[in-house]
Amino acid sequence: MSDTERVEAAIAERRAIVNDAITEQLPVKKPERLYSASRYLLDAGGKRLRPTILLLSAEAISEIEPMSTDYRAFPAPTGGEVDVLTAAVSIEVIQSFTLIHDDIMDDDDLRRGVPAVHREYDLETAILAGDTLYSKAFEYMLETGAPAERSVRALDELATTCTEICEGQALDVDFENRTDVTTEEYLEMVEFKTAVLYAAAAAIPAILLGSNDETVSALHRYGLDIGRAFQIQDDLLDLTVSSDTLGKQRGSDLVEGKRTIVSLHARNQGIDVEELVGTDPTDAEIEAAVDRLEAAGSIDFAREMAADLIADGKHQLNVLPDGEAKLLLEGIADFLINRGY
Ligand code: IPE
Ligand code: IPE
Ligand code: MG
Ligand code: MG
Ligand code: MG
Repeated sequence: MSDTERVEAAIAERRAIVNDAITEQLPVKKPERLYSASRYLLDAGGKRLRPTILLLSAEAISEIEPMSTDYRAFPAPTGGEVDVLTAAVSIEVIQSFTLIHDDIMDDDDLRRGVPAVHREYDLETAILAGDTLYSKAFEYMLETGAPAERSVRALDELATTCTEICEGQALDVDFENRTDVTTEEYLEMVEFKTAVLYAAAAAIPAILLGSNDETVSALHRYGLDIGRAFQIQDDLLDLTVSSDTLGKQRGSDLVEGKRTIVSLHARNQGIDVEELVGTDPTDAEIEAAVDRLEAAGSIDFAREMAADLIADGKHQLNVLPDGEAKLLLEGIADFLINRGY
């Protein structure tokens, strides 16, 4: 098995467990339209990268042989048991909440290969489904059975994360109206809108399982680094991969006038990024735009920046004991920028 296959298998194993837990913990009850809309994207698919990182982080901290223990009764090194699977569900539920609202903001119709929630249902239901998932995530994070002090700290981490996601999304929208966004501003925006959820996924098990502050901080920084790289790769995939493979509309960022690291670099090379494609571009038009971005060195620039961030993130894992879970956390970091979907 290649490294990538090993990482993909590790994700698939945990994805199945997380999916079963979501089905169990988020039943469709009354009002049915609200709960079916809340479940709709979760059932449609998704890579489950963040809950996978959370489970792997727990495995590495507790030095547990991967997949060998019940995630619902996960032994903490300091004694006692924690339901880390519920924490993983909480993080994935936040992810789905952000996607529902993001598609409204970005005016996107396709998500996880199906119509976005505001298209399949309606705007009111999509807003409420997002809000429901958002608040459910806090309920779940309170139900891990961790000692009260650790639960409060995990909740604090989750709350701060959600505030920062809103701040990042606000910057993302605001940048559409600006032509002078700098690389530093872009990196701050993606740290908030995207990387903080990776940071929470990596650090929360350390909090719940009673790790020391150094470990919690290092795992948090790991998430911030690999999460920013993940978003750069997301920006690249938006340009280079078909809508079918992505499960979302190719070229959406160009149409919406999003400031990505690719478009910022291209602008600095004198390319008029607003004029690259029209409002409803064909694949051929997007290919032509990508050729120009490639020729300007903007694609390579983004790839190099993402690779540097992944190297920094992996370095943070030095706080963890050596073992298979740590190797998988390193492998998943590489996967975030090598993935084609
Ligand atoms: C999409 O995240 C949102 C971003 C932060 C770019 P993913 O690409 O992880 O989406 P799913 O969860 O697999 O659908
Ligand atoms: C999304 O960034 C960040 C979120 C908080 C959801 P994007 O707008 O690039 O995500 P996609 O490409 O729609 O998944
Ligand atoms: Mg979007
Ligand atoms: Mg967006
Ligand atoms: Mg995107």
